[in-house]
Amino acid sequence: MRLKPRIEGMKTVDLIRKKRDGGTLTRVEIRNLINGFVSEKIPDYQMSALLMAIYFRGMDEEETASLTDIMAHSGEMLDLSAMSGFPVDKHSTGGVGDTTSLVLIPLLASAGLTVAKLSGRALGHTGGTIDKLESIPGFRTDLSRKEFLALVEDSGFALADHTEDMVPADRLLYELRDVTSTIDSLPLITASIMSKKIAGGARGIVIDVKVGAGAFLPRLEDSRQLACGLVSIGTQLGRKISAIITDMSQPLGKMVGNSLEVKEAIRTLKGEGPQDLEDLSCELGAELLLFSEKETRQEDAVQKLHELLHNGAALDKFRTLIGNQSGDPAVIEDFSLLPTASKQINILAPRAGVVTELNALMIGRAANLLGAGRFVKGDTVDHAVGIELIKKIGDRAEKGKPLAILHVNSAASLEEARAMVREAYKIGERSVVAPELVIERIAA
Ligand code: URA
Ligand code: CA
Repeated sequence: MRLKPRIEGMKTVDLIRKKRDGGTLTRVEIRNLINGFVSEKIPDYQMSALLMAIYFRGMDEEETASLTDIMAHSGEMLDLSAMSGFPVDKHSTGGVGDTTSLVLIPLLASAGLTVAKLSGRALGHTGGTIDKLESIPGFRTDLSRKEFLALVEDSGFALADHTEDMVPADRLLYELRDVTSTIDSLPLITASIMSKKIAGGARGIVIDVKVGAGAFLPRLEDSRQLACGLVSIGTQLGRKISAIITDMSQPLGKMVGNSLEVKEAIRTLKGEGPQDLEDLSCELGAELLLFSEKETRQEDAVQKLHELLHNGAALDKFRTLIGNQSGDPAVIEDFSLLPTASKQINILAPRAGVVTELNALMIGRAANLLGAGRFVKGDTVDHAVGIELIKKIGDRAEKGKPLAILHVNSAASLEEARAMVREAYKIGERSVVAPELVIERIAA
């Protein structure tokens, strides 16, 4: 006889019905559901039904906080309590050309904070910090937990790929959400993001919530709701946390693509980077500096971080980071050591005028077509390819002069990518100002 799926107390089917009918699940009920699912006592079909019930009925703050906490504890947790410094983490909801993590990790370390950063790979139209750093010859991101914690203790910072044994509940739930059309549920997104941050062990957390065409949630109302939820849940779970809502209508900086973004990060660490990337890095970093109580005024914290980018202190930390993780620090002085595409193809302005739009989603997709990202998990990325944006919103374009440069290694999908970049640019008559980068700050 086949055993009916069942957990202690209420049956799973009763809990699904409770949520379906708009009820509130208790902490114990949520724990039974999540732990039952992770240990394969609850089958996918029941969890799918529950996810759909949550999608339609939502979860209140208490349910979401319980879900987050239980998911965070579903696997190994990083214990940073023995570290001498103040451990901080930054998370972005995903952007195009967003190189801030590469800048922030050494920058925060140079400000005396402890950075134990777990990052992900590129998926969809957005890039991933792990792929970017792996374009540095020799750079290792597959550190064991022991190696990772030893580096954090000795140097104050390290960066590694998420390991399979952390937050298994999120991985399993995400796979199911992906095929049951239940990704875009605010409580589920909130618990997914925050469970990973909680398991990562940081005490101070800043979340960069993107808004605009290239963002996971393009509309400001949705981003604001997500930001508020993340801050509220993080606070309830004992973390110092804030969220900054920032513009992702156009890509950040001028480079999109793995080794191109490493070069852009190095330029920024030399104080020669694009202003938007430098400003955003300092804005996000300032939140963490305030949480650590190393600075007490926001303006002073921002100023301090700009200084560390311009006096070489942050760049020194990046050199240490590369060396610590078996990479070749000579890339900092010699960009020719980084993967370089075989061909550069100009995208020319069809007419004169002002760039009024530069669609981040299209640029992200075009970079993917060139091979910079992944369409499905497991695809290999080409670290050398990508897109250099010569003109951004508000810039003047001259007919026949380059708007962008494609860095290309293969003819496959080239025409499609070229057409997409052309379409991403809108050129108008009247002058426009670039959109404000920092749109809102959400604090506890
Ligand atoms: N990012 C996550 O980590 N989880 C989600 O559910 C959505 C975006
Ligand atoms: Ca960039």
